[in-house]
Amino acid sequence: MSAKAVYLETFGCQMNELDSDLVRGQLAALGYRFVPTADQADVVLYNTCSVRDLAEQKVRSRLGEMAVRKQQESSLVVGVLGCMAERDGTDLLRRMPVVDILCGPAELDKLPGLLDNAVRTRASLDGELTHEQSAKAVALQGSASRRTGTLAAAEDRLELLDLSRTVSPTDHNGSSYVRITRGCNKFCTYCVVPFTRGAEVHRPPDHIVDECKRLADAGVIEVTLLGQTVNHYRFEQGAAVTVGGVTQPQKGRSYQGGHRRDPFTGERVTTFADLLKRIHDEAPGIQRLRFVTSYPRDFGDDVLEVMRDSPRICRYLHVPAQSGSDTVLKRMNRGYTVSEYLEFVDRARAFLDQPEIGRPLMVAGDMIVGFPGETDEDFEASVQFLRRVKYKNCFIFKYSPRPGTVAFDRIPDDVPDQVKRRRNNELLAVQNEMSDKIAQSQVGATLNVFVEGLSAHERKRQAPVAASGGVSLTISGRQVGEGGTSIDEAPVGAAQLCGRTDGDLIVMFDTPAGAAPDDLIGRILPITIERASALTLFGAPASK
Ligand code: SAH
Ligand code: SF4
Ligand code: F3S
Repeated sequence: MSAKAVYLETFGCQMNELDSDLVRGQLAALGYRFVPTADQADVVLYNTCSVRDLAEQKVRSRLGEMAVRKQQESSLVVGVLGCMAERDGTDLLRRMPVVDILCGPAELDKLPGLLDNAVRTRASLDGELTHEQSAKAVALQGSASRRTGTLAAAEDRLELLDLSRTVSPTDHNGSSYVRITRGCNKFCTYCVVPFTRGAEVHRPPDHIVDECKRLADAGVIEVTLLGQTVNHYRFEQGAAVTVGGVTQPQKGRSYQGGHRRDPFTGERVTTFADLLKRIHDEAPGIQRLRFVTSYPRDFGDDVLEVMRDSPRICRYLHVPAQSGSDTVLKRMNRGYTVSEYLEFVDRARAFLDQPEIGRPLMVAGDMIVGFPGETDEDFEASVQFLRRVKYKNCFIFKYSPRPGTVAFDRIPDDVPDQVKRRRNNELLAVQNEMSDKIAQSQVGATLNVFVEGLSAHERKRQAPVAASGGVSLTISGRQVGEGGTSIDEAPVGAAQLCGRTDGDLIVMFDTPAGAAPDDLIGRILPITIERASALTLFGAPASK
C-alpha cells in the first residue's frame, strides 16, 4: 500500500499530547507519513478530550466538516481517539456516521490494526456504500475499564506502547513528557477522567528512569512527569510481576507516601519522593525536572525535601484546589478542606520559596465556578482564597455537567449560565491582579530561562515580510534583499525570543548582538528581568 498521509490533531491535556506522540511514533514506523493540515490527508485522526462540553463541541464541529468532505471523497478515513471516544462509545458512531475508527486512550496500541482495517474497507468501497453501511473499527475499554483482570491485560499492552517510544535526537524541542501514572481513582463528582482513563496504575520506576535517561541521551533537557494525581506515585518492588522480561505496572492503592516505608522491606517501595530523587541523580542530563498534576492531599514533607535538595527539580507546583469553600469541596468529593490546602501551600513555601538564590516557588492552580449549589458566599470564599494563595496563574473553568458523573446524576446544575459567566470573569480579574503582583516582584531578579523559540510576536512580525515575497528576514535578524543579497548594517531589530523560568514564568528577551536565535534556542540562559505584565516578564541576558 502506498504511504498514507495522516493528519493528527490533539485536544485536551498533556496526557493526550504524549499519547499523540506515541501514536505518531507507532504509525510512522509502519510507513504512514504525517501532514500539517487535514485537507492534505487520507486519514484524519482527532485525539479528543471530554473534560468539559466545550472540548467535545470543538471535535463535533471538526467532524461536521469532515462529513461534508467525505461526500466527495469516500476513501477518506476519520478516527476519533482518546477520552471522547471512550466516553461516548458507539453512540458517537450512530450520531456521527462520518467516523470510521473509535479508539479509547487505553487501547491506543491497537490503533495500527484498526487503521489498516479502515483504510482497506474504505478503499474497497468505491463510493458505493453509505457511511452507515461501512464497517467500523472500534477498540474501547467500555465498562471493563475498572475490572481487575481486564485492566491488568490492558496495562501490559500499554506499558509496551510506552516502552516502544522512539527518541530521536532531531525530533524534539528540548522538552518532553514522561508518564508515571495512568488513570485516576479519586472520583471527584464532576469529573469524567476516572471513567475515560480507568483505574490508577503506576509504571515501574526502572522503566521511568530508563525513559528519562534515553531522553537525556537524545538531548532533551526538560522532562515533565505526568499523572492525574502525580504525587500519589508508589510502586512496590517486592510485589512486582514480570511478564516476558517486562516488569508490569501496579494498580494504585490507598495513599501511603511520606516516610511510612515498610521497616522490613525498606528499599522495596519506591515512593514519589524516591522516584524524583532517582531521576534527578541518575539522569543528570535532565536539567529541569517538573511534574503535573499534584493532588493537595497527602503531600508529604519527603517530596518537599527532595525538591529542596535537588538543584535540577523545578520550583513549580500545579496543585488545583477547585474551590475556596469547604461545603463546595465536600460536594466535589475532593477530600480536603480549605485550611488543609492552605497548610500545604504554606509548608511548600517554607521548604521551597528561595527568591534570594533566584529560586522563588511558583504555585499554579485550577478553580471551578458555578458548581451546583455554589452560593454567593461560597463564591466570595473562592475570591478570598485566590487572594490568599497567590497563584502565579490559575485556570478558571465554568462548571460543565458531564453525563456519567455523580454530580450530573445527583446534583442539579442550578447555577444559571450568566451567573457562572459573571463569576468566571470576576475570578479571572482577581487572578490577573495576583499574577501581575507576582510578575512585578520578579523585576530586578536574574532568572534562568529555558529558551523555547521565537516569541509569537516575533513570528508574526517575520511572517508578513516573508510572505510578501519581497524582503525576507534571516533567522539571525539581518535583512536580506530581494535577490538574496544581504543588506548588512540594515538591521530590523533583534529577534525576540521566548522561554520559561523553572517556576514556569514566561520570559521574552531580544537576541543579543552577535548571537543568532538558533544558537540560543534549546539552552538555559540567565536573564535579568527589566519589566513585567501579568503574564509575561521582559528582560535581557545577564551580563556575566
Ligand atoms: N487531575 C487533576 C485535574 C484533571 S482535569 C486534578 O485533580 O487536579 C483538569 C481540570 O479541569 C480540573 O482541575 C478541573 O478544574 C477542570 N474540570 C474537570 N472537570 C470539569 C467539569 N466537569 N467542569 C468544569 N471544569 C472541570
Ligand atoms: Fe478528575 Fe479528581 Fe481525578 Fe483530577 S483527581 S482527574 S479532578 S477525578
Ligand atoms: Fe481531557 Fe482526557 Fe485529559 S478528558 S483532560 S484528555 S485525561
